[in-house]
Amino acid sequence: MSWLRTHTCGELGTNNKGEEVILNGWISTRRDLGGLIFIDLRDRYGITQVVFDESNKHLHQQAEQLRSEYVIGVKGTVLARDKETVNPDMKTGEIEVEATDLNVYSKAQTPPFEIKDDIATNEEVRLRYRYLDLRRPSMQKNLLLRSEVYHSIRRFYHSRHFAEVETPFLMRSTPEGARDYLVPSRVNAGRFFALPQSPQTYKQLLMVSGFDRYFQIVKCFRDEDLRADRQPEFTQVDVEMSFINEDVIYSTHEQLMAEIWRTHLGVEVETPFPRLTYREAITRYGSDKPDLRFDVPISDLSEIVAESGFKIFQSTVEKGGRVIAITIPGQGSLGRGALDRLTEKAKSQTGAGGMIFMKNSGGEITCSVGKFLDEDTMRQMAAKAGAGEGDLVLILAGPDPDVYNQMGGLRLIAGADFGLVDTSKSKFLWVTDFPLFEWSREDLRYYSLHHPFTSPRPEDLHLLDESPEKVNARAYDLVLNGNEIGGGSMRIHDTELQQKVFSILGIGKEEAENKFGFLLNAFRYGAPPHGGIALGLDRIIMLMAGAQSLRDVIAFPKNQKAQSLMDNSPDVVDEHQLKELHIALRKSVASNI
Ligand code: AMO
Repeated sequence: MSWLRTHTCGELGTNNKGEEVILNGWISTRRDLGGLIFIDLRDRYGITQVVFDESNKHLHQQAEQLRSEYVIGVKGTVLARDKETVNPDMKTGEIEVEATDLNVYSKAQTPPFEIKDDIATNEEVRLRYRYLDLRRPSMQKNLLLRSEVYHSIRRFYHSRHFAEVETPFLMRSTPEGARDYLVPSRVNAGRFFALPQSPQTYKQLLMVSGFDRYFQIVKCFRDEDLRADRQPEFTQVDVEMSFINEDVIYSTHEQLMAEIWRTHLGVEVETPFPRLTYREAITRYGSDKPDLRFDVPISDLSEIVAESGFKIFQSTVEKGGRVIAITIPGQGSLGRGALDRLTEKAKSQTGAGGMIFMKNSGGEITCSVGKFLDEDTMRQMAAKAGAGEGDLVLILAGPDPDVYNQMGGLRLIAGADFGLVDTSKSKFLWVTDFPLFEWSREDLRYYSLHHPFTSPRPEDLHLLDESPEKVNARAYDLVLNGNEIGGGSMRIHDTELQQKVFSILGIGKEEAENKFGFLLNAFRYGAPPHGGIALGLDRIIMLMAGAQSLRDVIAFPKNQKAQSLMDNSPDVVDEHQLKELHIALRKSVASNI
């Protein structure tokens, strides 16, 4: 039976001297010095040193049997440590507990890895034994931070009259964007639910119902290719508001971010956040989620080199492409080998065909294609790129927008390789005015850049029929240090306009009624103008915790293959379960199981 603790392992100090206490926890380490056995007892709150003295023979013998990760209760007396043995690095380092009684609640096998932070454990093993991994201090810290941030988020929205409403996890399948996770229905043979990729349609319906301000901390499910910043199930802070405009979303969420950063990181965030249009972000930083912790903007050299006589530059500009550059301060003396390695990296990681560089050194400007360019052109190029004495200019030429994406990648490589990123900073920004549609060269059709419920900008409505690709959306992303941490838009609240957007997306009237009839109908009964945003909570916590992967801030994450190694899911199921669900596996699959 468990003893009720009087204190946690993280709270005793010299003011408890002489007190009889009961502690419960896991054995972190055990040191046997013969006459004395020391145990570091660990719980969520900290570590306390417990000492077993041989003067209590029976207890000392029991303590000899203890091993790492045993779960025990200890009764004892709080003693002040001698001056020489005080541990200033430990919260409880000024005391120890001299044990008077011991209760072994459970023994433990030797764990597959040591329960501490600075060990190089293979991530597969960590995921397989996740419950042990979660005992490590850094994982505890991350998940407790997460828990506290949830609390702040709820307080923030509740204090501003947002209603927290739960929306269904079993919904109709409406694949747009990622693939849906499907759930077969037993009672409706041959029919399937889908797990929500986001509660987008529900939150809009809540606005039609008059809830005015909604939020939810909610799981979303997307069957998409995974990366370090993507999980198949992840958490959004989902928000929708009626009778507002973009500015209300911006200022509300600037306040939210500032409050979270202040409360949990002790950092004052500058507000309002800067705003860049999508096109500005692309042409200035080569990315729709630019990392503003370092400046290094892109300059456009196209006009200067259009008549330069250098064939690559000239033909690129003639074909409507761009010749663009970034300037790396103080790297003008980089040697040939380093530049070759940088070129190789740029080619393999960004898809750039090649890289041209220019140096401004000792009053002289040199260029890797200098023999094709006259001095005046080179001077103009260096001036446009803002290259001063000792600077290095990296140049790419290619079609728009590909060359901007490549330069965006090269900018990040250079930022990391040359230590330009100030990692102590949190740089937020809004990226606005995204195009409403993007044309897929593979599928020969338009896709929504955000989602089909996003409102076009009213001044672009006349372009919907003739040139949909020119229509800008009332959509925005929230970006932090080069990561997209949120996205949203003002919505369409008019049935006709919504139908039109569906038709541009190749969703005919009948299909639209079939898939989204409930939403179109709802709009026919009085829909308020509305808009919202969803924040990627896992990404936000990852960045707050300084973690490298979403897996480090999710208690039970999936691996890169969307599997849970701990419970070995997904897994095969019994034939009778399939039968009940009216499902037969394809022969090729069944024979492979
Ligand atoms: P969106 O698809 O942009 O918008 O998603 C919002 C935010 O969720 C995070 N996110 C992810 N995080 C982890 N793993 C994933 N697989 C993943 N996918 C997305 C990102 C992203 O910015 N319904 C709209 C929002 C709206 O319009 O209000 C939506 O879901 O940080």
